[in-house]
Amino acid sequence: MQFDGRVAVITGSGSGLGRAHALLLASRGARIVVNDLSRSADTGESYAQRVVDEIVAAGGVAVADTNSVATPEGGAAIIQQAVDSFGTVDILVNNAGIVRDKSFAKMTAEQVDPVLDVHLGGAFNVTLPAYRLMKEQNHGRIISTTSAAGLFGNFGQANYGAAKMGLIGLSRVIALESAKYDITANIIAPIAATAMSAGILDEEWERRLRPDLVSPVVAYLAHSDCTVSGEIFSVAAGRVARIFIGEGRGFYSPDLTIEDVRDSWSTILSEEGYSVPMSAADERDLLEKSFTAFENPTS
Ligand SMILES: NC(=O)c1ccc[n+]([C@@H]2O[C@H](COP(=O)([O-])OP(=O)(O)OC[C@H]3O[C@@H](n4cnc5c(N)ncnc54)[C@H](O)[C@@H]3O)[C@@H](O)[C@H]2O)c1
Repeated sequence: MQFDGRVAVITGSGSGLGRAHALLLASRGARIVVNDLSRSADTGESYAQRVVDEIVAAGGVAVADTNSVATPEGGAAIIQQAVDSFGTVDILVNNAGIVRDKSFAKMTAEQVDPVLDVHLGGAFNVTLPAYRLMKEQNHGRIISTTSAAGLFGNFGQANYGAAKMGLIGLSRVIALESAKYDITANIIAPIAATAMSAGILDEEWERRLRPDLVSPVVAYLAHSDCTVSGEIFSVAAGRVARIFIGEGRGFYSPDLTIEDVRDSWSTILSEEGYSVPMSAADERDLLEKSFTAFENPTS
């Protein structure tokens, strides 16, 4: 699968997963904006420029951008960089991220605000200007990066988990609003050995969890042939799996009481015959089905 003529903006791509996405897309012909605000503590060298140098050395085309995703001005500047350098944006990967872990009782605004600003604010700040361009050109692919910490929960990461779940709401609404413009919005939940996960993985996991094994999924979702939208994928060590939000059949009574809830608890929790709504409207259809089933118990 080739990306010739396509322009990709990848936030936080000066290291880790973003770097791997940038190298793969560049190797398949995309022109890349490598965004990252970090610099080497020793040499002051920009992470973004380092990855651009790698891409160029391998025969690819890329430009470095050091704006922060955390402000609307930064987001606008990143997308302007793509327009000035390459004329547009076809692919956006929201990948920039930080962690400020603390148990919830000890968490203060110092840990909460920057994490929300970079992950969730950052996705709004960069996606909004990119989306407007994509809508005008009737084409776009947006991939955002969530985490198991939000989807399933993880100790010490209330700030990060909340921000990461926000990205799911954002992407799913974009997926619904953008379908008629050939714009898709999908989400990956990766696990990889990077600076962010340093010190928490043993050697065997470090070896398996190569960041470049996440990038093929990002690239597939970024391709114009791929029309999948609003989906979430777990991607790690070469394994790819759909994660979905399912809703059980549930219990229904038009005169629901506390005792009904107590006595029907196993029905309420049951996963049997679950559905996977892809919009709030789909969920209303499920509710309507419950009314019908209650009113026509034999049908
Ligand atoms: N590594 C994992 O196992 C894992 C698991 C789940 C989710 N993620 C997510 O994957 C993404 C990439 O993380 P990674 O593991 O490669 O970590 P990483 O630390 O190697 O990369 C994150 C990059 O984002 C950059 N960045 C931070 N704040 C920024 C800002 N305001 N503007 C621009 N760039 C900024 C950093 O400089 C860094 O280079 C993150 O969103 C992270 O939350 C990673």
